[in-house]
Amino acid sequence: MSTFIVVSDGMDKEIFKQLQGVENFEVFPEAKISQEKLQELLPKIEGLVIRSATTVTADLLEKAPNLKYVIRAGEGTDNIDKKSCEQKGVKVSNTPGANNNSAAEHAIALMMTTLRKTAWAHNTMANGGWDKSKYTGVELADKKVGIVGFGRIGQIVAKRLAGFDPKVKFYDPFIEKSDLPYATKAKDLNEIFETCDVISIHTPLMDATKGLVNKELLSKIQPHAILVNAARGGIVDEQALHDCLKNKSFRAAGFDVFATEPLEENSPLRKLDNIVLTPHLGASTEEAQVRVGEMAVHQMKEFFINNNLLNEVKA
Ligand code: NAD
Ligand code: MLT
Repeated sequence: MSTFIVVSDGMDKEIFKQLQGVENFEVFPEAKISQEKLQELLPKIEGLVIRSATTVTADLLEKAPNLKYVIRAGEGTDNIDKKSCEQKGVKVSNTPGANNNSAAEHAIALMMTTLRKTAWAHNTMANGGWDKSKYTGVELADKKVGIVGFGRIGQIVAKRLAGFDPKVKFYDPFIEKSDLPYATKAKDLNEIFETCDVISIHTPLMDATKGLVNKELLSKIQPHAILVNAARGGIVDEQALHDCLKNKSFRAAGFDVFATEPLEENSPLRKLDNIVLTPHLGASTEEAQVRVGEMAVHQMKEFFINNNLLNEVKA
């Protein structure tokens, strides 16, 4: 008897072929399928691989009585109703570490483009312009960088910044110290928002971090400072962010993630001239997609063939 596997979001093509080649697996022949197709396949699915586009809800689980295992090919599992999975006996895993470097580099890319205005300058050039004075930027070197959430990605960001001779302040309720000589723990979030030149968010989205960066904290950011979020939408209050940027209460922002994704076509954030937006690209590198795919295939095989559950994420 073969096990029916569906990859409902994007996956590296070669890795997808490897999954299709696994004996005893019947893999639906396309990855990244439509919602309608997913609904149609649900009654048969036993193993499901997702990224951030598919949301595993209680309703989806109701319609998937044969589902035994969901793999989040990535880090954040906020798009999976883990409590309902637990109640239904559906196991959940992610692929920790596989895309962390890419996410960290993307946060740094957002810092650089926001500080040096390269994305906005490109828009002008693409429209025939040549405007040097409008795009005078500021350096990243020697700046005080505040990192909110000093886990795997936050720490990689701090490490990769070394060449910029930064002073790093981090805030994380569960981490006391850093091995990096230039990184010290802030006494609280206020210290980060009141004193840092660059602030980068790296916490997961969960009850405790939903709306964590609220109107009050945003209002503490210094006028010359910038804010970057390549972690999750919903951590930063988007309405308050919009108002601060519109009023130029701080310099600029770089955002990869949004409370609703895709970001609404008419979102007022799209109209601002001091935010750089990317469509959840943090993990979208060739290297990260190979790594997350390889881990997902290995974990799927271990679960269904060797009865071995790796990297379980509990509710
Ligand atoms: P991690 O679990 O290693 O680190 C998260 C850290 O946040 C932990 O150290 C934790 O103690 C800390 N934290 C928890 N609550 C906090 C709070 N209230 N204030 C400050 N810190 C708090 O996770 P990670 O691998 O570093 O990934 C972080 C998040 O980045 C993921 O959960 C995911 O949402 C996001 N991510 C985004 C992309 C992307 O494509 N943009 C890619 C990968 C990961
Ligand atoms: C993650 O949490 O790993 C990110 O959302 C990356 C992704 O899968 O696109």
